[in-house]
Amino acid sequence: MKKQSRPSIFSSAQRDLWRAVDSSIWTFDADRLRRDPALPVLQTLLDQPRWLEAHHLYDETGSKLFETICELPEYYLTRTESAILAQKAEEIIRIAQVDCIVELGAGTSQKTLYLLKEQTRQRRGGTFAPIDVSLSSLKVARDAVKKQFPRLTFHGLHGKYQDGIAAIDKDLPTLFVFLGSTVGNFNHSELIGFFQHLSDSMGPRDFFLLGVDRVKKRELLEKAYNDAQGVTAKFILNVFANVNRLMGANFDSRKMRYHSWYNPEWQQIEMYAVSTAAQEIRFPSHAASFSWPKDDRILVEISRKFDPARLQQQLQWFGLKPVAHFTDPKEWFSLLLFHKSSSS
Ligand SMILES: C[S@@+](CC[C@H](N)C(=O)[O-])C[C@H]1O[C@@H](n2cnc3c(N)ncnc32)[C@H](O)[C@@H]1O
Repeated sequence: MKKQSRPSIFSSAQRDLWRAVDSSIWTFDADRLRRDPALPVLQTLLDQPRWLEAHHLYDETGSKLFETICELPEYYLTRTESAILAQKAEEIIRIAQVDCIVELGAGTSQKTLYLLKEQTRQRRGGTFAPIDVSLSSLKVARDAVKKQFPRLTFHGLHGKYQDGIAAIDKDLPTLFVFLGSTVGNFNHSELIGFFQHLSDSMGPRDFFLLGVDRVKKRELLEKAYNDAQGVTAKFILNVFANVNRLMGANFDSRKMRYHSWYNPEWQQIEMYAVSTAAQEIRFPSHAASFSWPKDDRILVEISRKFDPARLQQQLQWFGLKPVAHFTDPKEWFSLLLFHKSSSS
């Protein structure tokens, strides 16, 4: 790999925390901050009830399984959001007059290509900077974007949302994009922390495009997260292979099963791993362990469902002013566009 100079999208304070990991891809150097990646996992697994942060799902296998989920007949989210973007990208890019598009949790950025197409058509270029913990997905996005939009500058940021967001120069007019209702994977306190951090990191010329899945009939929701082919089950249980690798733990996928349901009170799908036999889970690197009794469960992921009008109102608390709302004919999914309000 040729030596690459750090891109100008980075703020001067953050630039040194990123190093080239592949062509046009930068990785966040967590070692320099002396963060132990195993500690947060241990904290959530020893919590009551036990749970995991969503990003652990996306090792290489998990990222591939997620791509398969997006194509499943039951998983209406991707095709519904994609259809809205296909129709509304022109208007979104006309409103958001920016030089840079930063995508959070980008995956392979397939749907974002509609926005990039408009950006190059209306402004003849700019920068695209997807942020993701999945290096394999960033590579797929890079190859597709470079091939289809040679005029765009591509900088993949391999790291967590908060590190990627903080790295972007506040003076650069930017459209932050967060698709796939991925925001629904945050629990209540994560959600508040996320919006606060995003808003604090945005400059006065920045916009935010948020894709959210809406509250709807329970049967539709439950099917979308419990598909007939069992791909979602594989995706959720695969998280333990990643945790084992990270922590030298002994989770055994043969001694667990998948269970999901829609919790109407909290308006969220809950996805669990349920123990099918009493077992002792050990973390030798941290001299820790816990007993996982039969039928006891670990909350691996949630997917919150939203009321778009309410969300628009709530984001104003964080200085994000609603600018536009796009939806599909069945009103299953919403794309919300916000502007950073200059008064906050
Ligand atoms: C539900 S997928 C959505 C992918 C794509 N945006 C879409 O709409 O289809 C979530 C994506 O966010 C990434 N991700 C999850 N947690 C993350 C975190 N804390 N920081 C950065 N990326 C994260 C995953 O690797 C994955 O690519």
